[in-house]
Amino acid sequence: MSKTALITGGSSGLGFEMARQLKAQDHNLILLARDKKKLESAAKILASEAGSGFIRTIACDVSDEDSIEACFKAGLYETENIDFLIVNAGVTSIDLLSDYGELTAITRDLKINLLGAIATTYLCLPYLRSGSRILFVSSGFGVVGAPGYSLYCASKAGLNNFADAMRRELLPRDINIHVACPGDIDTPMYASELEVMPEWIREKMGRGKPAQVDSIAKTILKKCFKNQYMIVPSLDVKGLMLLQKFLPRQLATRIIDNLFPRPPK
Ligand SMILES: NC(=O)c1ccc[n+]([C@@H]2O[C@H](COP(=O)([O-])OP(=O)(O)OC[C@H]3O[C@@H](n4cnc5c(N)ncnc54)[C@H](OP(=O)(O)O)[C@@H]3O)[C@@H](O)[C@H]2O)c1
Repeated sequence: MSKTALITGGSSGLGFEMARQLKAQDHNLILLARDKKKLESAAKILASEAGSGFIRTIACDVSDEDSIEACFKAGLYETENIDFLIVNAGVTSIDLLSDYGELTAITRDLKINLLGAIATTYLCLPYLRSGSRILFVSSGFGVVGAPGYSLYCASKAGLNNFADAMRRELLPRDINIHVACPGDIDTPMYASELEVMPEWIREKMGRGKPAQVDSIAKTILKKCFKNQYMIVPSLDVKGLMLLQKFLPRQLATRIIDNLFPRPPK
């Protein structure tokens, strides 16, 4: 019987590419994102590609507490099992904390990337059976704090620890948990990030070549099916993690301070 994957943020970038690769492996797909038109065109493209299985869409904002439960209930009406939940929907903000201007602006990343991920997981738990899996798409910025990305870093670090708690909490139910912490990937998110990146960050961080989305998606999915918990598909993030793991904390901190850009005084 075909397996069913629910992918939040499945209409674009990494989520769309993982959907494409799972479809080629005959998974049924349930794609979730806010923009209905983008979702429908993603579903249309996927339907024309290799692989069998149904494709459904749920137009929903994962950070909208008032509607998310109803959206999931309506969207999952004929679904009995979710075999693979991919908690991937995300946004990124770049600015110094002091420059956000208004208090409401500082909650967006946390609401979507962290609270939205928690709400999604909560609503999907009844559909997850023994042997199923949840992949949380985090970021290299979930393991190290970068200046100019404080809100994004906070949301992804929170997601990493949430995933760790879920891993232990769901052991008795035999549900596999995975966390992916990629570096830069060539997606619409990365392109719009470059457009608003302040010069002081661009000088040090905006010049590297982002990884191709198809190869990152392939690596992440392959490692999930090998039951690997922490998935770090990018060499730069791996390097930072090794520095933190093997060097004395003060030395590692000093090296990483010098690797990251410094905001103007
Ligand atoms: N690209 C990178 O360099 C990079 C690096 C590390 C980690 N990541 C992570 O990878 C994940 C995917 O990013 P991407 O680069 O593929 O970005 P993307 O191309 O911008 O795709 C983001 C997806 O999330 C959906 N989304 C955003 N906010 C949502 C909300 N409130 N409710 C429901 N859906 C929402 C978007 O659709 P709508 O806008 O229509 O809702 C879209 O489908 C994110 O979690 C990101 O943090 C990306």
